[in-house]
Amino acid sequence: MAIQAARSAFIRLDARANGTLQTQIYAAIRRAILDGDLAPGTRLQSSRAIASDLGVSRTTTLLAFEQLTAEGYLTARRGSGTYVARELPDDLPRARAPQIVRRREHPPVSRRGAALRAIPAAARRCHTGAPRAFRLGVPALDLFPIRLWTQLVNRRLRTVTVSQLDYSDFAGFLPLRQAIADHVRVSRGTRCDASQVVIVAGAQRGLELACQVLLDPDDEAWMEDPGYQGTRSALTNAGARILTAPVDDQGLKVDVVARHGGGARVVFVTPSHQFPLGVAMSLPRRLALLQWARAERAWVIEDDYDSEFRYGTRPVPCLHGLDTDGRVIYVGSFSKTLFPALRLGFVVLPADLHDTVMGARRAADLHPPAIDQAVLADLIAEGHFDRHLRRMRAAYRERLEALADAARRFCGGVLQLRPVRTGMHAVADVIGVSAERVFEEAAARGVEVMPLSAYFLRPVTSANALIMGFAPVRPDGLVTGMQQLAAAIEAARRRPAMA
Ligand SMILES: Cc1ncc(COP(=O)(O)O)c(C=O)c1O
Repeated sequence: MAIQAARSAFIRLDARANGTLQTQIYAAIRRAILDGDLAPGTRLQSSRAIASDLGVSRTTTLLAFEQLTAEGYLTARRGSGTYVARELPDDLPRARAPQIVRRREHPPVSRRGAALRAIPAAARRCHTGAPRAFRLGVPALDLFPIRLWTQLVNRRLRTVTVSQLDYSDFAGFLPLRQAIADHVRVSRGTRCDASQVVIVAGAQRGLELACQVLLDPDDEAWMEDPGYQGTRSALTNAGARILTAPVDDQGLKVDVVARHGGGARVVFVTPSHQFPLGVAMSLPRRLALLQWARAERAWVIEDDYDSEFRYGTRPVPCLHGLDTDGRVIYVGSFSKTLFPALRLGFVVLPADLHDTVMGARRAADLHPPAIDQAVLADLIAEGHFDRHLRRMRAAYRERLEALADAARRFCGGVLQLRPVRTGMHAVADVIGVSAERVFEEAAARGVEVMPLSAYFLRPVTSANALIMGFAPVRPDGLVTGMQQLAAAIEAARRRPAMA
């Protein structure tokens, strides 16, 4: 059979691309083989002809051919030329067109899968791209010391040893656990040592892990309403029955939980900075919750997600620090204190849960990436973390003042900010116009505010407010964002009410 020699049209060289000309030629031929553009058995043009087509030296193409031959993609036949190998060394050629998915022919997804799909993604995860005014849950990434972080990463990579490439401690890198235990003891008043700390891939994994080891399907668990979608997802994932507890200006209403009677195995709370209302749970409520948990032999999951940022208030001891009974599981995250893409957080466990959690660990992710953990341990141990937190507290205070000032200037009379004592977002009551309509008009203008109503699990009529992150952009960005929001408010006001 006559075989047409494949032309080199599929190879495009780009002087600005990463990699040498040789690697670009190598990659293009390999890609063409894997995509099926060059079928097994196809004879390639000679390396000399390809070199002349592409305007590169023959050695460059020859070296690319040699590498592909050594890896088994090409075979050279003496006197006849170079061919695509009949048996490829790795992946099968990829289908070029997207697969046609015939949903009806597939069995249905699990009830759990369908329930998880129905939970709206946390608002902050719907927004991507460069940080914008009011984006929720995103820290001041513009102030993150990237150069320092890069230095620490490079130092770790330069000195990595063979044994550090192996599986690592399932509880997490010990120096990191020690550094975290020291930090939360001093900063958050927890009572723990490194043996109780387990490193997880973000607080979300900590919440999921807690659900996994504490709840069987149909077990009851309390969460705050309004509350965090991540908690709802974790509970749904465990097949738990969610009981919703209202929240007022002192935090979760423990009396409602207590009145409901026993049965619930777990309660999830954000006591330092209730998500999304931003209130701190009062000390009497904290003590009442612990007392209830003791009486009911229930667990308390304390999600302390952005408690490090306080503005002029003295910290209330965290629940973990008040707990004398080993009932509180403390969940912490580096998503707010450093950056969300790091995907590192931690849980502080009562000693008797350690082996169970390790069992769950073995069934799932084993441990987060070890080198990232080591870099984070260095950052904390060398004092950079504390310095960064101090800087962020000052920056957030400034950004919060800018937000409040801009709200008064551009949206006075309509937006009324509730007091902000902790965290990275504010709640603003909306007067005289529907917050949901403002949200829609704002979204149409690319302004990322969220309506408070989106965070309620039960239908709600009394939450005419917006949630606004103030951390991710500089004061001037907040001013611009507020001007755009003022336009959205105006448009919402003019919009005729739906019939
Ligand atoms: C209430 C709450 N808990 C925890 C987290 C942190 O999640 P993670 O560490 O998985 O990024 C967030 C982040 O938005 C949050 O809002």
